[in-house]
Amino acid sequence: MADHHADTADTTAAAWWEDRYASGATRWSGNANDLLVREVEGLAPGRALELGCGTGGDAIWLAAQGWQVVGVDIAQAALDQAAVHAAEAGVDGAVTWERHDVEESFPAGEFDLVSACYLQSPKPFARLAALQAAAGAVAPGGSLVIVAHERFPSGNAPHPGNYMPSTAELLADLALPEDGWSVETAESVERSRTKDDGELVEYADHVLRFTRR
Ligand SMILES: C[S@@+](CC[C@H](N)C(=O)[O-])C[C@H]1O[C@@H](n2cnc3c(N)ncnc32)[C@H](O)[C@@H]1O
Repeated sequence: MADHHADTADTTAAAWWEDRYASGATRWSGNANDLLVREVEGLAPGRALELGCGTGGDAIWLAAQGWQVVGVDIAQAALDQAAVHAAEAGVDGAVTWERHDVEESFPAGEFDLVSACYLQSPKPFARLAALQAAAGAVAPGGSLVIVAHERFPSGNAPHPGNYMPSTAELLADLALPEDGWSVETAESVERSRTKDDGELVEYADHVLRFTRR
């Protein structure tokens, strides 16, 4: 799951995320996101694009399942750390890492799976446009998986201007044509976790999976 942090610095998104990873403020959990695992486990491996891959937990898990993965992030420091973890996991031959600010550039090609897990930012971010670009990169017969917070953990101030739609709102906003896409999963998942200091925090995630016809 993504961590949460206030946007206190007057920096660009790229510089802000670069600093998060370079300083060690955001670290590799070593795990894939459980909701991605749940959605992808039944799919036949092919070519996958992981957007906002951070330090690579999901991309490395996908590679270990037999996917050929392109991991994309705005922060080179994250990608450098991800590459080290991929080598440690013995899957570096199955993953390539590309730095993109997806508001400005996007990986070339079509993919059997495009995933965007917690592709969210405290900096201004045209997230809906990024998700629509993600849909555009799905090959016929391929899947699009989107997982993100629709409600922040209790005690966390929402990021001003952050696009955090409910599942129904995101379905409507994406407006993927019914004759081109099947909705396989459209769910809001209530979640909770206990922080290191013992505080219980509750939040909710939207989970969407589509198949392109
Ligand atoms: C909340 S973190 C989630 C990381 C990881 N997917 C996870 O689930 O733990 C958001 C990620 O998106 C990346 N990101 C933010 N804005 C981006 C942009 N415009 N283009 C590409 N990546 C971006 C950040 O660097 C960060 O790694």
